[in-house]
Amino acid sequence: MNSKVVFITGATSGFGRATARRFAEAGWSLVLTGRRFERLQELKEELQAKVPVHIASLDVRSIDAVKEVVAQLPEDFRQVTCLVNNAGLALAPEPAQKADLNDWHTMIDTNITGLVNVTHTLLPTLIETGKGASIVNIGSVAGSWPYSGSHVYGASKAFVEQFSYNLRCDLVATGVRVTDIAPGLAETEFTLVRNKGDQAASDALYRTTTPLTAEDIAEQIFYVATLPAHININRLEIMPSRQAWAGFAVDRDKE
Ligand SMILES: NC(=O)c1ccc[n+]([C@@H]2O[C@H](COP(=O)([O-])OP(=O)(O)OC[C@H]3O[C@@H](n4cnc5c(N)ncnc54)[C@H](OP(=O)(O)O)[C@@H]3O)[C@@H](O)[C@H]2O)c1
Repeated sequence: MNSKVVFITGATSGFGRATARRFAEAGWSLVLTGRRFERLQELKEELQAKVPVHIASLDVRSIDAVKEVVAQLPEDFRQVTCLVNNAGLALAPEPAQKADLNDWHTMIDTNITGLVNVTHTLLPTLIETGKGASIVNIGSVAGSWPYSGSHVYGASKAFVEQFSYNLRCDLVATGVRVTDIAPGLAETEFTLVRNKGDQAASDALYRTTTPLTAEDIAEQIFYVATLPAHININRLEIMPSRQAWAGFAVDRDKE
């Protein structure tokens, strides 16, 4: 039995849930967190026959809650080898000038503050694990490529990319690896959340193309975390074959 522990934020849906299943297949012990506790319970029921599973309700925006969850980890789940900083969201698909400021703050609080809360709290443990440990941060193509309606979301994912690189510089002698995984269009609950529960808007985005699946990204997360200890993938940008970059926006006079 593989006794390594992976700690996943946002394990109740999408990439996080698929990542839990992928690591379970390989025998890792799982620490699964997210706000929707019933979903964590369901996932635990599904996977606990295969591997040890610890679940904890966690809103990553609260540093006190993060500290509490880490402090309460049962003995067998304490020595974390891989942290998957996956919890995140996009809101306000409308242009910046129409966006609700609260939505901007929610993205900053979750995608930036939440991610640094968990990273800072687990760093001593990861450094103790040392060689072969890894932090896999879920960024986005939006962190590198601007598009209308991405405003604070794209900026928050640019933070994730730069934070990942800068962490690498500080952790280079510790054995702890850091990767920014930057997915493109992927079908999860992401667009449902972005459109505040509008299932038709979510379906419309994915229906006429071939998006990535949650399992596609989980496979990449598992790949970077299980490479030989001397290899660090700095950044992995992944799009579906049917997605590429759009052109520049140009405002034109009416003729
Ligand atoms: N799908 C895409 O096209 C795409 C592309 C690039 C990057 N991403 C990124 O991938 C990551 C996962 O998204 P997904 O596509 O899998 O979307 P998803 O299905 O909506 O899953 C998002 C996860 O984040 C968790 N979460 C949100 N706010 C949280 C909070 N305050 N505290 C703790 N957990 C929180 C949610 O759990 P609870 O609601 O239960 O807390 C959920 O498990 C996000 O960082 C997202 O920005 C997605």
